[in-house]
Amino acid sequence: MESTLCIIKPDAVKNGHVEDINKKIEESGIEIIKSKRLTLKKYIAEEFYAEHSERPFYPELVDFMTSGDCVIQILQGDDVVKRYRELMGATNPAEAVEGTLRQLFASSLGENAVHGSDSKQSAEREIAIMNNLF
Ligand code: CMP
Repeated sequence: MESTLCIIKPDAVKNGHVEDINKKIEESGIEIIKSKRLTLKKYIAEEFYAEHSERPFYPELVDFMTSGDCVIQILQGDDVVKRYRELMGATNPAEAVEGTLRQLFASSLGENAVHGSDSKQSAEREIAIMNNLF
């Protein structure tokens, strides 16, 4: 059984999409084993997105991710890293396939409703960062 990290981002929380997103996750056969609503501290968001620290959008990304409540979740299932990435859709909602979470609930590349680990290795790292917040 595999695990992955899911974040419902501040735009989706503010816009009231948490229940609809989690319904789609569960309908796809993925189990939500931990879930917590909280506002991320800046140092956690910085560590979490450290791989993007040299990118021009990094300060804006950290500001956005700490701007309001997120819902941090651990998902579990067979091949869940890949399956949840497929359910999320492309990073840019304008390119996301119909019916995916980002096509349904995101408004822009920066405010794209959800995050999901991009590999098993990232999932391990991201779960380790967030696990003590539950
Ligand atoms: P996420 O999957 O959480 O991983 C990194 C985030 O950076 C990404 O979603 C986007 O929301 C955000 N981001 C903002 N601008 C860009 C950009 N130009 N290219 C890629 N990601 C971006």
